[in-house]
Amino acid sequence: MQLSTKHLLGIKYLTQDDIQLIFETADRFKEVINRPIKKVPSLRDVTIANLFFENSTRTRISFELAEKRLSADVLNFSSSASSVKKGETLLDTVKNILSMKVDMVVMRHPAPGAPRFLADHIDANIINAGDGTHEHPTQALLDAFSIREKFSSLKGLKVVIVGDILHSRVALSNIFCLKKMGAEVAVCGPPTLIPKHIETLGVRVFYKIREALEWCDVANVLRIQLERQDIKYFPSIREYTQYFGIDMPLLSSIKSDVLIMHPGPINRGVELSSEVADSDKAIILDQVENGVAVRMAVLYLLAAPRSASD
Ligand code: CP
Repeated sequence: MQLSTKHLLGIKYLTQDDIQLIFETADRFKEVINRPIKKVPSLRDVTIANLFFENSTRTRISFELAEKRLSADVLNFSSSASSVKKGETLLDTVKNILSMKVDMVVMRHPAPGAPRFLADHIDANIINAGDGTHEHPTQALLDAFSIREKFSSLKGLKVVIVGDILHSRVALSNIFCLKKMGAEVAVCGPPTLIPKHIETLGVRVFYKIREALEWCDVANVLRIQLERQDIKYFPSIREYTQYFGIDMPLLSSIKSDVLIMHPGPINRGVELSSEVADSDKAIILDQVENGVAVRMAVLYLLAAPRSASD
């Protein structure tokens, strides 16, 4: 079985069968990375460049580990220490790197659509590791994989995404992924951080955190992205926490159990209290662990046609 696409630019471009195939492949790789010998030779002789034009901790390390577990040759590029600072364009930067015989590119970039632009101009497989406020497909895949691990299936499950939906690539990719896999999806946040017409994506909207938590099985809680906010969307962080922050007294007062997720990085004490983030109600570190297996699956499946044609 193969993916229907050569690149992973966004969840929008994946089919339900693609996502199912990624999950089943990730199941196998999760078993591999829990063995004493965690490495397989699947991507031997494949060279992968990780191009990060924006900060990252989890995604960058997770991709690098996934690549090394698959025995790929890995090349790391950070724009802050590169000739981008001297005015080199994205296309020139990537063409120069590809001339060193790179097969796959993992790219994080602040401009929405930058991975699509590259895919239109170069031959390597492109994997979007987050493009501005657009998509973060591997985050959505690892989030959905982690939910599936807890509940067996996503079908009919109710998932609410809480917080700064307006500036979040994680929110959009999660909405696409969860809906493709049959979940019911809602968003919750202050009206100023909910995009206009979001209902056209088939999601419910809650403006009160208690109502959202009463409705859902899973709450995926997002960080307030102050670095993307050039105007004030709410009076103060303190007020945001008062109305939308999730703490243990609130969670304990909800009649059913709610699984808490967060893509990281967490603003402790803002969107989640430390007590909740560190409790057994949260699966935040499971998400990080699953990220490696899911990214191994994505890399392996995108590289598969390449080795079939060798
Ligand atoms: N979740 C996520 O994308 O985290 P990083 O920004 O640290 O990669």
